[in-house]
Amino acid sequence: MRLKLAAGNWKMNGTTAALSELTQLRSIDATGIDVTIATPATLIHRAVAIAGGVQIAGQDCHANVSGAHTGDTSADMLADAGATAVILGHSERRADYGETDADVAAKTNAAWGAELTAIVCVGETLDERETGATLSVVATQLTGSVPDGASGETLVIAYEPVWAIGTGKVPTLEQIAEVHDFIRAELTNRFGAETADAIRLLYGGSVKPSNATEIFATSNVDGALVGGASLKADDFSGIISALAAA
Ligand code: PGA
Repeated sequence: MRLKLAAGNWKMNGTTAALSELTQLRSIDATGIDVTIATPATLIHRAVAIAGGVQIAGQDCHANVSGAHTGDTSADMLADAGATAVILGHSERRADYGETDADVAAKTNAAWGAELTAIVCVGETLDERETGATLSVVATQLTGSVPDGASGETLVIAYEPVWAIGTGKVPTLEQIAEVHDFIRAELTNRFGAETADAIRLLYGGSVKPSNATEIFATSNVDGALVGGASLKADDFSGIISALAAA
């Protein structure tokens, strides 16, 4: 049985005032599901102090434990601040910083070294979707970004089509099901059915309260990674409620 997961990604949004959104989320009934918010690193420590049952995550980490890497944050530092998970390989990091699958795999190993759950993101660009390359792109990203030794506790996969992030465009439910079923099959080939069945698969890209219910009813969707709609407690609580009811 996979525990469903509603994960918010605040990206580079949020100063002290944003913590009041977290305070509001505490009163949402999230019985039977996990809720995680990836705040900016600057807020993690304070967010953990007020988050109640909501878990707090980082949005990236360095592959090394420590050292001369100005401006970077290690997985140990995130864990020390109270984070329990970290988003890795988000398409914005792949695009803005040229992160490769090998970089994401190294960061995932670092996350595991700090006992953080890695939420590894994969997904095709619009061009790749239109040329029929979606499944091969996702397969390559999965193989390259996920190290050996994954488990249901340590790994979550987020399928996020790049063209659906922040655009209001969402794949059809058939397209989501096709990719999620494919990811489950790829994980089964690599890790065996028992491990693959324990790994949660999130859909991400323009998830809102209005489309959450149908997305959560889709094959092999175990929750969502939510950007814009996670910034306001009212919106995110609608998504949490839809997932708890799914
Ligand atoms: P969005 O972002 O919900 O704003 O489309 C999703 C994400 O980037 O994780």
